[in-house]
Formats: sequence, C-alpha cells, structure tokens
Amino acid sequence: MSERFDLIVIGAGPGGYVAAIRAAQLGKKVVCIDKRPALGGTCLNIGCIPSKALLDSSELYSLAQHRFARHGIQVGEVGLDLPAMLKRKDAVVKNLVDGLAYLFQKNGIQVVTGTAKLESPGRVTVQQFDGKTATLEGDAVLLATGSAPVIVPSLPYDGKHIVSSTEALNFEKVPEHLLVVGAGYIGLELGSVWARLGAKVTVLELLPRILPGMDAEIAGAVQKSLARQGLKFHLGTKVLGATVQGDQVVVRTQHDEKESEFQGDKVLVAVGRRPCTEGLGLKELGVATHERTGRVQVNESYQTSVPGIYAIGDLIDGPMLAHKAHEEGVAFAEKLAGKAAHVNYGAIPGVVYIWPEAATVGLSEEQVKEAGKPYRVGRFPFQASGRAIAMDETEGLAKVIADQATDRVLGVHIFGPRASDLIAEAVMALEFSASAEDIARICHAHPTLSEGLADAARAAYSGKAINLYLGR
Ligand code: NAI
Repeated sequence: MSERFDLIVIGAGPGGYVAAIRAAQLGKKVVCIDKRPALGGTCLNIGCIPSKALLDSSELYSLAQHRFARHGIQVGEVGLDLPAMLKRKDAVVKNLVDGLAYLFQKNGIQVVTGTAKLESPGRVTVQQFDGKTATLEGDAVLLATGSAPVIVPSLPYDGKHIVSSTEALNFEKVPEHLLVVGAGYIGLELGSVWARLGAKVTVLELLPRILPGMDAEIAGAVQKSLARQGLKFHLGTKVLGATVQGDQVVVRTQHDEKESEFQGDKVLVAVGRRPCTEGLGLKELGVATHERTGRVQVNESYQTSVPGIYAIGDLIDGPMLAHKAHEEGVAFAEKLAGKAAHVNYGAIPGVVYIWPEAATVGLSEEQVKEAGKPYRVGRFPFQASGRAIAMDETEGLAKVIADQATDRVLGVHIFGPRASDLIAEAVMALEFSASAEDIARICHAHPTLSEGLADAARAAYSGKAINLYLGR
C-alpha cells in the first residue's frame, strides 16, 4: 500500500473502532488493522456481547423454570437446547460485526487484516495471513490492542479442561461441576450463566471478599444473592495447582494454612487481564510502559513517550472496560483533529451483568472513609418499590453516598433489577457535580425502578425516603 494515512489504528475493538470512526467523521483518512478478520475486538467477538447474549438467554431459561408460575404462566416442562442457545449468541455477534463492517465502509475506513508491528513512529508493517507483508505509513499511529487473560502458572490453560472466558462461552455441554477461579466480573457473570443452565458452580477467590473495588455492602449483597442461586463461594482461598485426570480436573487450594482439593470437569480461570503489548515493537522504539503493570504510559492527549504514537483502552491505566476505551477513542480522535475533549475518569460506571445486576459509579463507601471525607448515605431497598413489586423483582438496594458538607454525590451503587440502565442517571449526576437533593428533586416517572434511586438520594440528603419509613 503506497497511500499515506492521517491515522493508522492498530486494533478494532471498542477503543480502536470508535477512534477510527470518530477520526473519519472529522475528515481524517484512516486505516484500521486487526489480526482477527471480524471487526469488534474481544468485546464484540469473545467478550461483552456474546456473554450478554448468554446471560440473557440463561436468565430467560431460569425465569421460565422458576418464576413464570408466580406470574400465573404455565409452560410445562422447560427444556434446554444448548446448541440453539449458542447459535443465537453467534448470530448476535455476527449481526454486530457485520454492522461494524458497514459503518467502516460508509465512513471510508480501510481495513487490513493481519498482525501489526511498529517499525518507526509513522510506519507499520502488517504480517498478513497469506504470508505477505503490507507496509502502512501515516502521521499518527494509535495502539488499541486491548488485553488478554492473565496466565496463572499453577493453572495452565489447555483450552479444554482449564479454560479462559473465550472457551467458557462455548462449552458443548453444561459442565457438571464448574470451578471458577476469581470472583470478579468474568467469574461471576459466566459462573451465573452455567449455574442457571444446571451446572454446579464453585468459586475460588484469593481475597476475603468478592468483586474487589466494588462497594463492600453491595458486594456482600451480591454474594448472598448468588449463593441463594446455588453458587458456592470459597474466599481467602489460594490455588496451588491443578491436575487433569481423565475428564476431571483436581484443583489444590490453601485456606488458612489448610490444604484442600476441589474436583470439577471444567475450570474457568478469570483472575484479571493483562495489556497486549507483545510483538508491537514498543521496546525497540522506546515506548515507555509502567514497570509493574506493563501498561503503556500516555499523556492527557493519549500520546505515548514517542511523539506520533498514541495508546488507549486496556493498554493504558484505568479500568479495563469497553466503555472506558470507547470514551478514550472519541476523546483521542477529537484531540487529534484539534478539538477539545476529555474523559471524566471519576464518572466511569461499572456493571456486573448477573441477575439482579450490580452497577456502580464514583467512590465506594470504603474509599470515601479512607479519604477521610465526612459523608452521608441513603439507601432504598427495591422491596419497597411499587414497580419492583409489580415485576416480582424486589431483591437489592440503591445506595447514594453524598458529601456531608456540600451534599455533592460522591458515589452511587445499585444492586437490583436493571441496575445497568439505572446507573446512567447516577453517571449524569456525577458528571454534572449534582447533589443528592438534585437527584431527589428530579421528577421520576411512576411507577419505575428509578424512583428507588430518587428515594435513596432523598434519604441521603434529608434522612427520609418517601416510600420507606426510616424513623421520625
Ligand atoms: P477481575 O479483575 O474483575 O477479577 C479477578 C478476580 O480474581 C479478583 O477478585 C481477584 O482477587 C481474583 N484473583 C486474582 N488472582 C487470583 C488467584 N490466583 N486465585 C484466585 N483468585 C484470584 O478480572 P476478570 O473477572 O478476569 O475480568 C477481567 C477484566 O475484564 C476486568 O478488568 C473487568 O473489568 C473486565 N470485564 C468487564 C465486564 C463488565 O463490564 N461487565 C465483564 C467481563 C470482564
């Protein structure tokens, strides 16, 4: 290719594809390289989207089995057609991958499939599948290669018995006993999927709690709820090693100096992700990375230590979340085009798509305490929400934390039905530096779950919720 580009994007995930589209919209000539023929990166192909497709399908299965009767719906015996469920998930992915290809085409973004390497700041070579090497030249290069599962030496992936999230999206049959190592986002979401479909699920977590980083009260409520759904938790448990024996894996663990063994037919290792920087030629070019995390260092314009080379998403600091990469993709492209843009890292929501859902934005109560800020908390249990009762979804609570002196909202944490949608209002509140009173005084439609958030905010600023008696 002898053309010259304004921007070469390496990686077509939610960071890279968004940056490519936004830059093209702003008049830049863009090429995007990805080693996967399907656009969309991990999120679309083997992450967020297929896991949500399975979470939604398995939740419907579970509702049909356990809850429809309470609504007066008789369905007879409910059966599982796992191949059909997996096929639907694949169709969902294909639909979105095709949509992205359409958007690229319409925006005039060229695509090169293959493995990219930086030769110099404006020069990238691409090793293509046909053995040919393409050389691309451009003014700016954006690294958006994302992340891959962390490898635990004592639990080497074999793709069959000891697996990562990729394989756990495609089990041919429901495992009898799925051992999940790591009680984070992936472990709980995929553990939920297979538990709902009939697997016995045991979660082994190193720390004494699940969902580290999330507000502890919410994480505790999540754990109780998942335990009621059948997941077994072993916290403070260190995995020492695993042995495959026929169709089974024996995982050796240690808890309080005591060693134990767990046997299952599948082990899902979900202990975090690491940035994908290997093979890009970063060291050779002197692109600085953080020693401990391996993440690429960038300035506020996402420029690395080498002018003309930029990085966003899971490669750089911050939560490894698709929507964080998305926002950085927009901000990067707008800055490149000379516009003002920024990402508010204090207002990035996090959602665990279990059921009920857990969603969070801003500071947890523990973080507020640690910062020594005097604060007030308001809570509202969905048990007291008219809409939640009508839905038969009364589990969970909304929790609003506000600064005691100014009433400014510091954090909002929701465990409850449709928390993933409810959190958007809280993100807006944080973005506009709203007070808890501001949230409470916004007119919320009745009957909606969002009234629960309003009443939690009312409880935070005034000590009283309308739909809950909290004392006189
Ligand atoms: P995570 O960081 O969410 O959780 C990993 C868990 O594993 C932690 O609880 C940690 O204490 C534990 N752990 C670490 N080493 C361990 C060991 N040796 N033995 C037992 N437990 C151990 O990582 P996860 O779930 O792998 O997800 C990776 C990334 O993907 C996360 O950054 C997450 O934000 C993102 N993600 C986000 C989703 C969402 O937004 N809904 C869904 C899936 C992934």
